[in-house]
Amino acid sequence: MEIKGTTKITGVFGYPVSHSLSPLFQNAAFQHLGLNYVYIPFEVRPEDLKEAVNAIKIFNWVGINITIPHKKEVLKYLDELDKTSKILGVVNTIHNINGKLKGYTTDGDGFISSLKEDGKFNPERKNVFIIGAGGSSYAISGALIKSKINSIFLTNRTYENSVKLREHLIKNLKFKNIEIIEFEKRNDEKIWQNIDLLVNTTSVGMKKNDPLLIEKKNIEKVKFVYDIVYNRKTELLKSAEDLKIPNLDGISMLIYQGAISFEIWTSKKAPIDIMKKAIYKKIKI
Ligand code: ATR
Repeated sequence: MEIKGTTKITGVFGYPVSHSLSPLFQNAAFQHLGLNYVYIPFEVRPEDLKEAVNAIKIFNWVGINITIPHKKEVLKYLDELDKTSKILGVVNTIHNINGKLKGYTTDGDGFISSLKEDGKFNPERKNVFIIGAGGSSYAISGALIKSKINSIFLTNRTYENSVKLREHLIKNLKFKNIEIIEFEKRNDEKIWQNIDLLVNTTSVGMKKNDPLLIEKKNIEKVKFVYDIVYNRKTELLKSAEDLKIPNLDGISMLIYQGAISFEIWTSKKAPIDIMKKAIYKKIKI
């Protein structure tokens, strides 16, 4: 990549940011399409976020991804928000439009594209079991509802957080078919008779000795397993594979949410296959 006077700058603000896989596939995509753009990781400490966002305007950067721990905090420094980020209160993509910063959240739509394109699974009219009620769960459950699923069974370690998510979905998306399952009761066999899709939205599985939260006899009954963890093959994914149940890990979601950011910034169709190749050359989970 030749850096010139006209090179357009994109990147990611995070803390930490050194583990980010986005530079790998975003730069490969720019290069493939011959776009004179570059994607750079920026380590931004929480106390510096305001000034870092201002720098987007000062340096006239095209766009920035926002990752942990800034996704909520960044909202107050932006000029405009798309509908989904306004509803969810999170932003993972900023676009600099003539000096005005607009925030988007592409995680939910990225999840759905990944599920449909890579997983060949259409969530319409399906019953979904979701583990977790954090930021990722808000994005994913909201996007699943927009994709016309039938019902959600929701479980979370902290009960109150699942109640908050349920209330949020009822209020903002008018979706009422959500049953909260107490965390201790998540393996009750009767829940699992009719589940099509199981999604883990928590960080459980990222570490080597993390437990399998759903028993194999229940996993066996579902048609598709999605685990958003992307740094290693989780016990959940290993079980799905043993049971020959179609499954996806978080790398697929990572690529599709990044592809939407790419399209926001460049107005060009993202070269998904090139992005995948770039990432899978380095990582095999
Ligand atoms: P993110 O934005 O990535 O979703 P988050 O908002 O911190 O991150 O949410 C993390 C989710 O993982 C939450 O649902 C959290 O459960 P709590 O609401 O009880 O905190 C869940 N989680 C994290 N560690 C967990 C663990 N060891 N066991 C079960 N759930 C866990």
